Amino acid sequence: MLEQEARALGQNVESVDTTGVEFKGSSFDAMRLNLESRIAMRVLTLVKRFRCEGPDQLKRMVGKIEWDTIIPAGGYLSVTSTVHHPSIDNTMFASLLVKDAIVDRIRSVHGRRPDSGPLRTGAVVHLHWHGDSAGIWIDTSGQKLSDRGYRKMPHAAPLRETLAAAILLRTGWTKSAPLVIPMCGSGTLAIEAALMAAGRPPGLLRSQFAFQHLHGFNSQLWADLRRDVTPRKPRRGRPERPTIIATDHDPQAVEATRRNAETAGVGHMIETAVCDFADTPLPDTPGHIILHPEYGLRLGDEAALQPVYKRMGDFFKQQCGGWSGWIFTGNLKLAKSVGLKTACRVPMRHAKVDARLLGYELWAGSRERSEAAS
Ligand SMILES: C[S@@+](CC[C@H](N)C(=O)[O-])C[C@H]1O[C@@H](n2cnc3c(N)ncnc32)[C@H](O)[C@@H]1O
Repeated sequence: MLEQEARALGQNVESVDTTGVEFKGSSFDAMRLNLESRIAMRVLTLVKRFRCEGPDQLKRMVGKIEWDTIIPAGGYLSVTSTVHHPSIDNTMFASLLVKDAIVDRIRSVHGRRPDSGPLRTGAVVHLHWHGDSAGIWIDTSGQKLSDRGYRKMPHAAPLRETLAAAILLRTGWTKSAPLVIPMCGSGTLAIEAALMAAGRPPGLLRSQFAFQHLHGFNSQLWADLRRDVTPRKPRRGRPERPTIIATDHDPQAVEATRRNAETAGVGHMIETAVCDFADTPLPDTPGHIILHPEYGLRLGDEAALQPVYKRMGDFFKQQCGGWSGWIFTGNLKLAKSVGLKTACRVPMRHAKVDARLLGYELWAGSRERSEAAS
């Protein structure tokens, strides 16, 4: 999905693996991806790849990079790393070596060095060292791109914003069809959908990215880019609004959805209600309906959730004929209680949980039959 998105944003993807996609691009491309990607977690740019057999070699190779032209001496630096090498049993040690090599290099040229620490509020350098191959990357995002900045009011078990966007893209929803999100929690799916429908890049909500703290950052180019991707208000008439409905039986969840949607600037695009999922008002024109129930992964919770999952299946079957039905869950055993045949099962990860996006084709006939029977 990330490959598709990167291609749609104009990148010539060269390779894809389970953790990311790689392509050649400019620093402008990096800014644009930080601003416009809905599903990437970070945008990294490669500084150097090298053979690395141990800590001394790591420090020497990192020290050869011209950091004085990359990171300002008066700035702030943090280093992250993923390391699989027998000489390293604590990745913090590897990060420390990289940090020392960088600040030594900058001090030797400028006579002073950037502050450093764990915050991702300045420049961020990432070490990826696997076997005898190491790579030094600039993390141009800093804070994860999922931290859009609108979720001021959290609620139970929220989806990461990037995962919510990926779910929506995978369901194939487009703004021409109604979207209904019962069990909305803090509103992530509904808000991401509204941002998509409004054509608003998610990065517009953020005030800072790590690339702003590098030498060569062009603030005018950045301002121009932000202006260019900001959707314009239509000159005449009211903008078309998609139908997005979010409900939850917990009033606090609905309040969180409202407030978060306001913060994201899409409060006017989402209708909300407090109700059981099965009482969610459905528009006459069928569209997409997405349920994200609790997973019941704590001991004892699963049994209580089994009837909820069964009711979700009944709701789909009896009231959602003609709709495209989706359930996102991290409990594959409970998913069986839905009792409907899946049309597709998409493996996804929610934090460390092995989750599935389950798609159901809900035939229009079943809704009409159930209305006739009642
Ligand atoms: C896993 S959370 C959803 C999180 C949401 N996707 C987000 O990103 O914030 C599940 C939600 O389902 C709601 N819920 C559970 N049972 C429900 C029911 N019977 N009717 C309506 N909502 C229900 C809970 O209140 C909770 O907000």
